[in-house]
Amino acid sequence: MVLNISEGKKLFDQKKLPGHVAIIMDGNGRWAKRRGMNRIRGHQAGAESVREIVRTSRELGLRWLTLYAFSEENWKRSKYEIQALMKLLRRFLKSELEEMLENGIRLQAIGRITKLDAQTRDMLAKTMERTAGNHDMVLTLALSYGGRQELLDAFRSLALQLEQGNISLDQVSEKTISRSLYTSTMPDPDLLIRTSGEYRISNFLLWQIAYTEFYVTPTLWPDFRKKEFLRAIEDYEKRERRFGATSEQIEQET
Ligand code: FPP
Repeated sequence: MVLNISEGKKLFDQKKLPGHVAIIMDGNGRWAKRRGMNRIRGHQAGAESVREIVRTSRELGLRWLTLYAFSEENWKRSKYEIQALMKLLRRFLKSELEEMLENGIRLQAIGRITKLDAQTRDMLAKTMERTAGNHDMVLTLALSYGGRQELLDAFRSLALQLEQGNISLDQVSEKTISRSLYTSTMPDPDLLIRTSGEYRISNFLLWQIAYTEFYVTPTLWPDFRKKEFLRAIEDYEKRERRFGATSEQIEQET
């Protein structure tokens, strides 16, 4: 489906649009439970929300969308649920490839991808390769992702470089840490959305969200669709981001 991008772009002030939106997609299990269904049905409905939010992001002209699709902690779930989630992910990659190609969306993944099964890794690699030339929007899936693990990997890599004499201690800075993260080529998120009403970060992008705006909604992820996503963006556009400065200082800058 070729998306109606010019119409979407008219909805918001493009200058105020968040460059990078990250989402903690939560509440699939509760959504299913409330309907007397199996948790997997909740994930299936959640995959529909993923489709709709990716489409809407592209229509609005967002440049970066990052979805927390599978955390390091999610490995604790039953084998049955993990397999179902991986299957849904593969199905998504297959069904959305055409749309990503038609609409300039590049897919990438962050996390300890090597822990995923070979079939899923293979599909991810192929999708990333096929979409590598797209430049309009980057869809990042956080898979087997944990913020502390990411920091640990970064610190180990910096420590190794120090040990080998490739960098000196004063070269270890905020910039070099950022560059050692899985997100090294990405801007920090401007807006972080969490569904299902929990006020937690759940080990997501710990370093990167230092100045990120939050939007928490009680809506469960399978019910989080275009209308509420637009509401979250609208809410963000009304906020004043000060990055530690005062309102007056911000006014003088603009
Ligand atoms: C949280 O719901 C959600 C997840 C653990 C995974 C997110 C997965 C999807 C949205 C489905 C498919 C993904 C893609 C990329 C196609 P939960 O199970 O923790 O819900 P609960 O807290 O209500 O139990």
